[in-house]
Amino acid sequence: MDFTEFLYGGDYNPEQWLGEPEILEKDIEMMKKAHVNTVTLGVFSWSFLEPEEGRYEFDWLEKIVNRLYENGISTILATPSGARPHWLADKYPEVLRVNEKREKMIFGGRHNHCFTSPVYREKTAAIDAALAGRFDANPAVRLWHVSNEYGGDCHCPRCQEAFRAFLKEKYGTIDALNKAWNSAFWSHIYDSFDQVESPSSLGEESIMGLVLDWKRFVTYETRDFMRNEIRALRDAGAVKPCTINMMQHFKDLDYRKFAADLDIISWDNYPSWLETTPADEGFRAGMQHDMMRSMKKAPFLMMESTPSMTNWQDVSRIMKPGMLFMQSFQAVAHGSESVFYFQWRASLGGDEKFHGAVVDHTGSDQTRVFREASEVGSGLEEIKELAGTQVVSRTAVIYDMENEWAIAASRGPRNQGMHYEETVLKSYKALRSMGLNVDVLDEDASLDGYKLVSAPMLYMLKEGFADKIRAFVQNGGIFISTYHTGLADENDKCFAGTVPNGLTDVFGIERTEIDALNDWEENKVSSLTSDLPGRYTCTELCELVRTCGAEVLAVYGSDFYKGMPVLTRNRFGKGWAYYLAANVDDEFYYDLFDKITRTVGGIRKIKLPAGLSVMTRTGADADYLIFQNFTGEETYLPVDYNKLDVVYGGASPLTPYGAMVLRVPFSRPKKGGFPNLS
Ligand code: GLA
Ligand code: ZN
Repeated sequence: MDFTEFLYGGDYNPEQWLGEPEILEKDIEMMKKAHVNTVTLGVFSWSFLEPEEGRYEFDWLEKIVNRLYENGISTILATPSGARPHWLADKYPEVLRVNEKREKMIFGGRHNHCFTSPVYREKTAAIDAALAGRFDANPAVRLWHVSNEYGGDCHCPRCQEAFRAFLKEKYGTIDALNKAWNSAFWSHIYDSFDQVESPSSLGEESIMGLVLDWKRFVTYETRDFMRNEIRALRDAGAVKPCTINMMQHFKDLDYRKFAADLDIISWDNYPSWLETTPADEGFRAGMQHDMMRSMKKAPFLMMESTPSMTNWQDVSRIMKPGMLFMQSFQAVAHGSESVFYFQWRASLGGDEKFHGAVVDHTGSDQTRVFREASEVGSGLEEIKELAGTQVVSRTAVIYDMENEWAIAASRGPRNQGMHYEETVLKSYKALRSMGLNVDVLDEDASLDGYKLVSAPMLYMLKEGFADKIRAFVQNGGIFISTYHTGLADENDKCFAGTVPNGLTDVFGIERTEIDALNDWEENKVSSLTSDLPGRYTCTELCELVRTCGAEVLAVYGSDFYKGMPVLTRNRFGKGWAYYLAANVDDEFYYDLFDKITRTVGGIRKIKLPAGLSVMTRTGADADYLIFQNFTGEETYLPVDYNKLDVVYGGASPLTPYGAMVLRVPFSRPKKGGFPNLS
C-alpha cells in the first residue's frame, strides 16, 4: 500500500444505532472535528448482513459507507467471521468448537468456531464473496480487514482428522513420527496415525513433539481458514489489499507464518501504561511494534488501541493527559501508517460497554478524551510528510515463537518461569536506549545486512539457523547469545553431544550445567574489564560453561561456581561472538551493549536521558528523528535541534509524554552512514 497521509480513526459499529439515523450524522460531524479519515466497519455485523441464511442485506452498510465517504472518511471493511449469527450455529452445530476437554461448546461469545468445519468455511466464503462483489469497487473502501483476531483451537473429530493428515504429510510413516517425538519414553509409542489425539489435560501432554506439532497445526489450519476467506474475496474480483488484526504478546499462533498471505500487517496495541512505568511499558509496546514491522520489513497499521481504558485488563486505568498522544506517536515512530482506536462510539450494553471510546455514553465531544483524540488527529496531519517512510534497522533481536512454545512446554529447568520474552526484551531495551532502530526476527529470517544480532535463550535451534549464525559472525557480524541456547531440535529432542549444538567453536565455550535459582536468590557478577564498571547481579538462571578458546570478561561472584565465566567473547572469522551465561540485570545489558557498539561501524548511537526515546524513519531524501518523552517530567533533548528542521514540536524540554520530530536531509554530512547530529 502507498501512503501519502496517516490513516486516523477506528472501529465503528453503527449497526447498533440503525434506528437512530441522527447518531450517524452526529458521528460524522464529530469525526471531522477529530480529523478522522478512516473507520473500520462490519467487524461484528453478520446478523445484520445476512439475517437469514442466503438473504443478504447490504443496503444499510452501503449507505453508511457512502455517507462517510461524502464527508471525506474512507472505510476498512471487515469480513464478519469473528462472530456468527444464531441461525448459523443452530442449523449447523458443527461450526462450534470442542475444547481440549472434549466438551462441545454452545452458541455464545465470539471467535468460538471450528476452523476445519466445511460448513463454516463455505458460509464465510459465501458472505465474503458477496461483500467483495458489492463493495470492493467502491472508492470508499481502502482495505479488507479479514475476520477479527484469529485465535484459539478446536478439538472436534474433524480437527483431529485434519491433524492426523497434517502429521502424515509431515512424517510419512508412524516410525518416523515416533523417532522424532522420542515416544519410546514412558512406552508412549504410536502404532498408527489413528491413535494420535490432540494434546489434552485429560490425556497426553508429555510428548513435546505432539505439543509442538499441535501448535504448528493450529497455526497451519487457522492460516488455511484465513486463506479460504482471502480466496473468496479474490475470486469474487476483489483487488483491494487484505490484512488481519493480530494481537499483542499473543503466543497461540506463529503470526509470522501468516505474513506472506497478507498485503499489509496490522495489529491491536493495548499497553498497560501505568502498571509499571510508561517508559518501561514503552519498551514492551515498542518491541511488539517492531516485531510486526519486521514480519514484512514494511510499514504496518496499528489497527486498534484504546483512547482511554480497556475493560479487560485487571485494573482499568485511564490514561493521564498526554498519554494518548504518546501511545499514538509511538506507533508512527515505529513504522505504523495509522492510528486506529477500538472504538469510535461506546456501545450502551453488552460485554464492552465500559471499554473506552472516543465518544463515550454522553455522546458528546466535550470530553477530555475527545479533545485529546482531536489533538492526535491534528498532530498526524502536521507530520504528514513522514507517511510512507521506512524504518531501517542495522541491529536485531531474535524472538522465535516456536522456541517460545518449546521453552514453555518443557518441564525444567525452572518451572516457576523461564521468562523468554522478558529476556529478549533486555537486549531490546539496551539497544533502544541508545536510540538504535531494532528489528525483531525469528529463526527463519535472514541475518544479512545487520551489524549486530542478539538471540537470547535460543533453546530450540532449528535446522539451518546455526549455519546462519556461523556465516554472520564469520563475515564480521557481532552475535550475542545467552544461557539455554542450542539444546534441542525442532521437535524438542535434545541434541546428543556438546552444546550449543554446532556452535561451540563460534562461541569458544561449552555448556556443562545450568543452575536455577529461587526467586529470592541471586549471584553477583565480577567484571574483569573496565568497560563493565558496575556492580551487577544475576538471578533465576546461572549456566556453568567451560571455555574452549573464548576470552572471559566477567565471572560469578559467589557459590561453588565463583570465578567461572558469566560473559565470554570469541573472535570468529571477522566477527565476534559473545556468550552470556546468566540472567544478568538490565544495567549489565546496558553497559555491555554500550561497550560492544562502540566498535561497530555504520550504526549511530545517541546518549539519551532516561525515558526519552528516538526512532528514525527514512524517506526519499531525509531521515526523520522522532523523539518522545515517556515520562511525566519535562525532558531535554540531547541534540541541538536549532540546526535542524523541526517538523513537529519545537521546544526543549519536551512536555510530559510529548514529542519532537526533526528532519535531517541526506545532504547533511554523515558519520558512519548516518547523519552527524553534533
Ligand atoms: C480486541 C478486539 C476488539 C475489542 C478490543 C477491546 O482487540 O478485536 O473487538 O474487543 O479487543 O480491547
Ligand atoms: Zn473442529
